[in-house]
Amino acid sequence: MNRKLFRPLMILMVIATIASLTVAACAPTAAPTAAPQATTAPQVQPTTAPPANKAAVGVILPTKDEPRWLQDQAVFQKAGWDPLFSQGDSAKEKANVEALISQGVKVIIITPQDATAAAAAAEEAKAAGVKVISYDRLIRDTDAVDYYVTFDSKAVGSSWSQYLIEQAGSTKGNPLYIYTGAATDNNAFIFFEGAWETIQPKIADGTFVIKNSSEAVALQDKPTLTRDEQAKIIGQTTTNWDFNTAKNLAEANLTAAKPEDKGTVYVAAPNDGTARAIADAFAADKDVTKYFITGQDAEKASVQYIIDGKQSMTVLKDVRTLVDDAIKAAVAFLAGQTPEKTNSYNNGTIDVPAKPSAIVTVTKDNVKEAIVDSGYYPASDFTGLP
Ligand code: BGC
Repeated sequence: MNRKLFRPLMILMVIATIASLTVAACAPTAAPTAAPQATTAPQVQPTTAPPANKAAVGVILPTKDEPRWLQDQAVFQKAGWDPLFSQGDSAKEKANVEALISQGVKVIIITPQDATAAAAAAEEAKAAGVKVISYDRLIRDTDAVDYYVTFDSKAVGSSWSQYLIEQAGSTKGNPLYIYTGAATDNNAFIFFEGAWETIQPKIADGTFVIKNSSEAVALQDKPTLTRDEQAKIIGQTTTNWDFNTAKNLAEANLTAAKPEDKGTVYVAAPNDGTARAIADAFAADKDVTKYFITGQDAEKASVQYIIDGKQSMTVLKDVRTLVDDAIKAAVAFLAGQTPEKTNSYNNGTIDVPAKPSAIVTVTKDNVKEAIVDSGYYPASDFTGLP
């Protein structure tokens, strides 16, 4: 090509490229559909075969806005279901239940958005002869729950405390910051119960000093708490399972704390999404020299945080296990049988039969083995794996 022509042409091409990139950057972002799933969900599948009549079973999950539930969605999809989402809205959840009932399902697998609000939807299902499987979160205050598929949530909370206790060793007077889940989620209570019962003796012996909850300080001599007492502490420390709420609360706590309440700090954070938000707030505080922080869900972003030393631990609740257990329960109900029961959980009205599964604590020391070698996520999803 003529060199005189080539130069202006190149300039034009560069301008056109910049213009198209700018347009792309300004374009409204697409709804988070397939994209986050491809980057956040494990590419694994359940081992239990789904029932022949898959259409007899419907699945409802609480929100697409947390990578945790995209993990469950991906595994259910591998088994042949496309879960409905309630998007944090109990009215939408009820509409989803009604839609499944009118489609003629015989079993509904559902993670309630709000434990108590979901009771009405469960009762509608029961009235229509549909079996209700509470998935990961328990529906409360109704007899219309037939089975509870869950991990050992008390062990989740206990593992946070165990981890923090191990890091503190024999040192005393360590600042402890407590954060909890949403008060509308029964799990927030079970996690907290496990965490409290494990760490309380270490608060009593002076290893830890609670810094961000006057309600927890007032109750710190009690090894076990009633639900009302737990609710008081959760009321003061809740993240509502929301990243921004978590970040704002952590920042407010740090603003209120004195420099001597900082230094090396110990943070009980209730899940990975909130842990990353809280960790970022603690990392940004100049008086915090080191922090240990817990989590759960093995979200990809948190696995990377653990590799990078920005989050200390997470709890792997392998979604394959949960989906397997849900399929087994559904298959049993469709055959007119009762699913396997090893335990039961009181939901305020009845004892709901359940078979809680074991959890795995993940730190930098075992992250490769627990997350990559187990086939949960591929090594190529991370940088700097130990
Ligand atoms: C689940 C957690 C999850 C949290 C927030 C809890 O009920 O057990 O895995 O992180 O809800 O969605």
